[in-house]
Amino acid sequence: MERSLVLVKPDGVQRGLIGEIITRFEHRGLRLVACKFMQVSPELARKHYAVHEGKSFYEGLIQFITSAPVMAMVWAGPDAISAVRQTVGKTRGTEAAPGTIRHDFALQARYNLIHASDSVENAETEIALWFKQEELVEWKRCTEDWMYE
Ligand code: CMP
Repeated sequence: MERSLVLVKPDGVQRGLIGEIITRFEHRGLRLVACKFMQVSPELARKHYAVHEGKSFYEGLIQFITSAPVMAMVWAGPDAISAVRQTVGKTRGTEAAPGTIRHDFALQARYNLIHASDSVENAETEIALWFKQEELVEWKRCTEDWMYE
């Protein structure tokens, strides 16, 4: 069972897409493990996006992610990293496949609505950065008996 850190970014929150995005993951069969609506501090933003430091879009990205609240979540399931990224789509909305969230609701790179972990290792690091251990809820969805082998 893998876990992925998912952020509905400020553009998704401001555009009223939190419910739509959660629904996509719920319908996909993933299990919500943690969720919090929060204002991101510059310190947290810089730690989360440390890998992008020095890139042309870095400062704009920090400004953007701290500009309004985000919905931070952890979703779990078999192959959750791939499943979440597949549902989210490629970074740029115009390159994302039809039916993905970014294709259906975004056009460009910065305002791409969602962050999703790109590997199991990064997911665990990101989850530890955004959530305390006691904020991660252990439970099982009844649908898992009919979806997970
Ligand atoms: P995310 O998956 O959160 O990871 C890094 C983020 O940087 C990305 O989503 C976009 O929001 C943003 N990003 C990536 N490429 C660019 C770009 N060329 N211009 C502006 N923002 C970008």
